[in-house]
Amino acid sequence: MIIESKIDGVVARTCHPFGCKKALDDQISYIKAATPIVDGPKKVLILGASSGYGLASRIALAFGGSRADTIGVSFERPPSEKGVGTAGWYNNIFFREAAEREGMTAKNFVGDAFSPTLRQDVIRYIQEEFGGSVDMVIYSLATGVRPDPETGEKLRSVIKPIGKSVSGATINLEHDRLDEITLSPASEQEVADTVRVMGGEDWQDWIGALNSAGVLAKGCETLAYSYVGPSFTYDIYHDGTLGRAKDHLHASAETLTRKLRPIGGHAHVAVCKALVTKASVFIPTFSPYICALFKVMKAKELHEGCIEQMHRLLVEKLYSEAGVVTDEDHLIRLDDWELRPDVQAEVADILDKVTSENFKNLTDYAGFKHDFMALNGFDLQGVDYTADVDITALTALRP
Ligand code: NAI
Repeated sequence: MIIESKIDGVVARTCHPFGCKKALDDQISYIKAATPIVDGPKKVLILGASSGYGLASRIALAFGGSRADTIGVSFERPPSEKGVGTAGWYNNIFFREAAEREGMTAKNFVGDAFSPTLRQDVIRYIQEEFGGSVDMVIYSLATGVRPDPETGEKLRSVIKPIGKSVSGATINLEHDRLDEITLSPASEQEVADTVRVMGGEDWQDWIGALNSAGVLAKGCETLAYSYVGPSFTYDIYHDGTLGRAKDHLHASAETLTRKLRPIGGHAHVAVCKALVTKASVFIPTFSPYICALFKVMKAKELHEGCIEQMHRLLVEKLYSEAGVVTDEDHLIRLDDWELRPDVQAEVADILDKVTSENFKNLTDYAGFKHDFMALNGFDLQGVDYTADVDITALTALRP
């Protein structure tokens, strides 16, 4: 079958398996050519390993000098009569194949990371087949829903401002246009639920379960990802429901560091740059900011994608000669280049002038769209999109 891109609003309905492989191989090539990680972890569990920052972390730790064996947990769909499956499904398969070719272990668990059964399966695998412990746990889940661990009731996160409405333009990738939207303020319940879905509670639960089972190695580090952004995005992010969840995540790092003290462990939060991922295109009114940011950062040769960010994190901030590099709030700042005053001044200038007519010229909409297509295996050089894809053969591949 010939696979074509299909987008509904900001959601990709198809993916190209061999394009996904090409995007993965490109990240592997980048990291192999970059400065190697020295004294990095060797046994790593990544929650949210199949795309975005979690996948880039996994690639960097396996192929970037540390040669880490990895366990990846993700929620992805295989091919079926209904469709070709999700990009992350193929990322898992092709990552495992690439790692195994180079003699590393790469185990994939595809299922709900919030389920106690899956947690126990991962623990059992660490005990019985992964050498008994992990020395790093990366928490990179991005999701809109989490079952309440006590009641099973589905908690849903929302992306809304708090205390006021916010209006603004947001990109519609399906029609390549800007749509004006108004977001109403979140209710108290919505704020509380978003904190429970996207805050640090589940991170704490995972680390608690792994610690109780005795599968965290001495000195084990755990890491989660956050975002802050410039002040003019505060209404929708930092001061909104997601920002509240991230505040909880930051506080969870302090709690976890205290809990890990007996084994000499440490929890960190890395504040990353705004990038195009399956999760971030969902944030209403945020996309014009990313398009303007890309334009400015590319012109200043400061632009980074997920793999470049994860490389800088590991080499310069976590395993650097100076030790772990944080700000006064104990946060690792990978958004330092994004937040440079000269960058933000130019971004603000562009956003002041953006209209629905001129946004493709004034911003890097082309780069934004390309990154979105590439996430799903499209728009990549060297992939023959006219070639017949044998879905039956792909269906036989296991993660
Ligand atoms: P993503 O959508 O690319 O990846 C999310 C991962 O979580 C995928 O592997 C997915 O399969 C997995 N996942 C979702 N629900 C799951 C479930 N129930 N069980 C198991 N796995 C599940 O997201 P992205 O953007 O890489 O986000 C990761 C973290 O990075 C989030 O905490 C996000 O807030 C943070 N971040 C993202 C930024 C961005 O611009 N994309 C910027 C700064 C931080």
